[in-house]
Amino acid sequence: MNEVIRAILERRSVRSYDGRIPEDDKVETILECGKFAPSAMNRQPWHFTVIRDRELMDRISAANKKMLIESGDERSVAMASEEGFDNFRGAPMAIVVSGDESNYYGMSDCAGAVENMALAAHSLGLANLYIASFMRALVLEENAELLAELGLPKGYKPHFALCLGYSKEELGERAPRKEGSVNYIG
Ligand SMILES: Cc1cc2nc3c(=O)[nH]c(=O)nc-3n(C[C@H](O)[C@H](O)[C@H](O)COP(=O)(O)O)c2cc1C
Repeated sequence: MNEVIRAILERRSVRSYDGRIPEDDKVETILECGKFAPSAMNRQPWHFTVIRDRELMDRISAANKKMLIESGDERSVAMASEEGFDNFRGAPMAIVVSGDESNYYGMSDCAGAVENMALAAHSLGLANLYIASFMRALVLEENAELLAELGLPKGYKPHFALCLGYSKEELGERAPRKEGSVNYIG
């Protein structure tokens, strides 16, 4: 099987990490792959923030935990109340991908960049997890100072992040893919 197809079919979401920080050269290659994702009119409306500061990741998770608990929604409260709640699932680092809010395709272009990076990370032997939940609290006015710590260009908003590290998880069976999601015409 060719390497690209192998990476696509083998990539898994990993939610438990052993704490080892990915090597700089691997991170640089992953970022390069993100930047080479397709984008509408080649506008490249993304910004990548490499966070290797677990303390900042903990504060982002704490803000999300607070928001979920305050929402009063039963499932959100239960999830946020779980011991060790962490949007980044214990990963030692993450790359936040933020989009230009004035670009109509900003979010979809960022999504493509994250998937490119996830596949690159997998092919380099790194465990990874594509997440979005971390950003919900970051866009609240009360967390403006926390958002400012990301150092985003003006007019950019965080959409997704890719958690990176080395797995300490025994992955079970893959969830089956949905049936009937393809039709053919002609
Ligand atoms: C846009 C997006 C947001 C996601 N957000 C989260 C998240 O916040 N937390 C999480 O644990 N997984 C998150 N995931 C991972 C999905 O749960 C995962 O891709 C899905 O269950 C399929 O599993 P697989 O990636 O191992 O094939 C997200 C995936 C996508 C594409």
